[in-house]
This record gives sequence, C-alpha cells and structure tokens, in this order.
Amino acid sequence: MRKPVIAGNWKMYKTAGDSVATALALKPLVANANHCEVIIAPVFTALKGVADRLEGSNIKVAAQNCASEKSEGAYTGEVAAFMIHDAGCSHVIVGHSERRQYFLEADHIVSNKAQAALAAGLTAIVCVGETLEQRDQGKALDTVKEQVVGSLSGLTASDLARIIVAYEPVWAIGTGRTATPEQAQEMHAFIRRVFAERHSAAAAESLRVLYGGSVKPDNISGLMKCSDIDGALVGGASLSAESFAKIVNYNG
Ligand code: PGA
Repeated sequence: MRKPVIAGNWKMYKTAGDSVATALALKPLVANANHCEVIIAPVFTALKGVADRLEGSNIKVAAQNCASEKSEGAYTGEVAAFMIHDAGCSHVIVGHSERRQYFLEADHIVSNKAQAALAAGLTAIVCVGETLEQRDQGKALDTVKEQVVGSLSGLTASDLARIIVAYEPVWAIGTGRTATPEQAQEMHAFIRRVFAERHSAAAAESLRVLYGGSVKPDNISGLMKCSDIDGALVGGASLSAESFAKIVNYNG
C-alpha cells in the first residue's frame, strides 16, 4: 500500500514569522491525519524556525530547491542538501516547473539535485509536467517520459525508494485550470509504466506519484479516487492553514 502524501509548496510567499504562524495554525487542524504524510515547504529563511516548532508533530518540512553540488564550497547563493537536512527538513522539492522555466534547470541538473538530496538523507520530490503547447501538439506523454528518465538518471534501485514524483502540468499551475481526474490518472499510470520499464515492477508499484496544479479543497477528493494518484503538491491553496487542512483531510 502506498501511503498518500499531501505537500504544500509555499513558493516565495511568507516571511519566517508568517511561516511559523501558519505552521502552528495548521498543526492542530491536521493532528489526526494518519491516512497521509503531511509536508510543508516554506522559503529557505523559514525552514529552521518552522522545523523547530513542528518537532514531534506529524507535519514534515521540505525545502523548495537545493544545490546540485553535494559538498560545501564556493557556490555563492546556493544551499546544500545536507544544510537543509541540518535545518530539520526531511524532504526537498527538485525540478519544479518554475525552476525549469525561470532558472533554466535542465533534467541533468534536476538529477544531480535529486542525487545530492538522497546523499544528504532527504527524500526528493521530483517534479515533471508538460506545457500547454506540448499538450496541444500531442507531446505530453513524450515530454513527461523524457523528464522522468532524465531527472532520475544515475539513481540506484535503493535511491528510487526515496523518490516521490510530482506530475504538475504547467498549464494547470496557478491557473485555476486543474487537469481532470481522468487526464491526471492517465499520466500517472503512464509514469508508473515508464518506471516499471526503466527500473522494476516493484519500484513502480511502490512509487508515489503526486498530482499538482490548482488542487483545491473542492477537487482533491475526485483526484484521490484515482488509483494511480497518491497525493498532491499544492501551491496557492496551501498558503492558508484552513484550506490546506481541508485538502489534507480530504477523506473526512
Ligand atoms: P498551484 O501550484 O496549486 O497554485 O497551482 C502548484 C505548484 O506549483 O506546486
């Protein structure tokens, strides 16, 4: 059985103080959510404060990015995965489409970041997803396959157990236009097939594939009914503790 994951990506919103306040407001609202793993991803400057205040709770903390270099060094502006781990995080998001689009992160960079994350003891949430143009040209499956293969290249079989994939169609992010459960299910099943072909049936069966893109309290349960959707990566609707808690508690 794959345990679902509901992760909130706070992007470049909230100061350290606001992040702690939202995290503390969230804590009691999701305290009984044993059916899924709950993760929030604040900005770098808030990670330690939030992780300290959530210690002992069922909410885990993720960074939104990490350096592709494993060791410390002269890389101005970068934050190493082991430093993120040291701040109290258990997860890191890599290859988000905003990083691919605005910071030109190619698949091999995403793969290096995933490897650095795993080496530091973090679980990597690896994002993939096609643009509207690629979907309209009938290239959605090929694009996502290329990203999955490229972003996970160089990972060993044991690494794969600590990878979560997030399928986030770019046309659904922040647009209010969610993929239908059928569109998402088709892609999730496809990602699992790609995984089975490249790695093993067992790795594919245990891989958790999250959906992201305009997930809201009123569309989460429809998505979670799909057999290959194992959770959600939520942007806008995770910024408020109340709305994110409704998503986490989709089953009740
Ligand atoms: P959204 O963002 O929920 O605001 O569409 C999702 C994401 O970018 O992870």
